Amino acid sequence: MMDTRYIQLCASMICIVLLTSLQLYVKEQTRISRTKLLPYVPSPIPTPVKEPNTTLCPQGRPKPTIDDILCMAPFTFNSSHKNPCWTSVNGKLKCLPYFQVIGMDKCGTTDLFARISRHPDVVPNIKNKETMWWSWERYGYWLWSSNARRTYLSNYIHYFDNLALRLNNISRKKGKTQLVTGDGTPMDMWDFRGWKMIPQNKGLKEPQYLTPYLIRHVNRDVKLLILLRNPVDRLYSDYYFIDNGERSKNRTTFHQAVVKAIDVLKKCEEHRSPRSCLFDFNLNAKLVKHKTRIHLGFYAVFLREWLSVFPRDQILIMRTEDYSANTKSVMKHVFDFLQLKSLKELELSKFKITTSKREYVTKHKLGKQPMLTKTRVMLENLYRPDTEELSRLLKDKRFLWISRDRKSGMVENSTIN
Ligand SMILES: *[C@@H]1O[C@H](CO)[C@@H](O)[C@H](O)[C@H]1NC(C)=O
Ligand SMILES: *[C@@H]1O[C@H](CO)[C@@H](O)[C@H](O)[C@H]1NC(C)=O
Ligand SMILES: *[C@@H]1O[C@H](CO)[C@@H](O)[C@H](O)[C@H]1NC(C)=O
Ligand SMILES: *[C@@H]1O[C@H](CO)[C@@H](O)[C@H](O)[C@H]1NC(C)=O
Ligand SMILES: *[C@@H]1O[C@H](CO)[C@@H](O)[C@H](O)[C@H]1NC(C)=O
Repeated sequence: MMDTRYIQLCASMICIVLLTSLQLYVKEQTRISRTKLLPYVPSPIPTPVKEPNTTLCPQGRPKPTIDDILCMAPFTFNSSHKNPCWTSVNGKLKCLPYFQVIGMDKCGTTDLFARISRHPDVVPNIKNKETMWWSWERYGYWLWSSNARRTYLSNYIHYFDNLALRLNNISRKKGKTQLVTGDGTPMDMWDFRGWKMIPQNKGLKEPQYLTPYLIRHVNRDVKLLILLRNPVDRLYSDYYFIDNGERSKNRTTFHQAVVKAIDVLKKCEEHRSPRSCLFDFNLNAKLVKHKTRIHLGFYAVFLREWLSVFPRDQILIMRTEDYSANTKSVMKHVFDFLQLKSLKELELSKFKITTSKREYVTKHKLGKQPMLTKTRVMLENLYRPDTEELSRLLKDKRFLWISRDRKSGMVENSTIN
């Protein structure tokens, strides 16, 4: 009798212990999974402007869902560093990029960025090349979608912590520290899809404030680099790059896709300005679907936005064709523009700046036939007004991309991207 009761008591006690730990375990698991599901909360770097501009930052306006960059106080950079850096409120050194390669897709920016990064005074950013912040992450955008993770200026700044950590470690000698860092996001030049979310554009039919204004506000002296390639060749390369599926792609399918894409663009431009079409979210989505992002080739329209904010000598604009043909002299020019110490011949090869092979070739494009002549002619006609405008803007006829021998332009050994 006693024994049974004792056993029963023991059993129920064990039961209670087991149940309690099970309960605790379940609770803990829910807590973990709940933490994982919690939405991302930005750290509060955004500081209000000391004297808000009542035109740009009226009081009582609802808080925007993205950082209101133009209403943030610009950082005061520490002149001990060549790179724009400052000490944040919590005493940590923070940095923005000293240079940005802002465009264009499929024009060789990956190769250019990699070569710049091999300069001994250049420190890579945390994402290595593309932060994808100004045009994508900031709005929660991706290639065509709008539901990616949205991040904030504080996240962008975090991408340059590599440099901040290195600078912390340098014992101060006379003069500035020379290390710099950069961003290489080729979408930044053209992808203005998020313009409606910028509070200062509210209610406007066409945007007034785009990425160049925002960058200028926080990073006034940033050096901008742009590689531009014949827009017709750029598109053909982009076609094989976008959304893969290369096996079913050839020059015939390219031609059909181009015809459709031009139709989509023309329909939009029937009732809207080219500018508002080229910056449009839905137009981009449609053209990505056709794998022919013809809108990216209107370089002059995009460049105008940058030139209306940044002084001309703060932007280095190069042609991909010249870069491929004479990488060494172009790289020397790039280092000059960036005011990085010039390297001797031996160093240029030691750091693999001039000796290495071209990076990131779109493999699927190799072995494809050149595009059909009728496609090329159609695209040349499409882009001609823009390239004419571009060569006027830059006072440089090379940006007309008129090759004496059309055939050589066609094959053009397009091993870049
Ligand atoms: C405020 O912004 C407007 C619009 O850009 C500008 O015209 C004006 O000069 C600014 N005012 C001040 C005090 O900065
Ligand atoms: C600027 O950086 C130098 C070197 O790290 C440091 O000694 C100085 O205190 C900094 N100045 C400011 C205003 O933060
Ligand atoms: C900073 O210096 C320390 C000591 O020399 C070293 O261990 C550390 O790796 C350095 N950190 C960076 C980011 O260079
Ligand atoms: C091109 O690709 C399409 C679709 O995959 C195919 O039907 C067609 O036969 C191909 N044409 C050539 C010339 O290879
Ligand atoms: C393309 O590259 C190959 C191999 O590098 C070379 O033999 C050929 O002459 C080049 N063609 C043109 C048009 O530059």
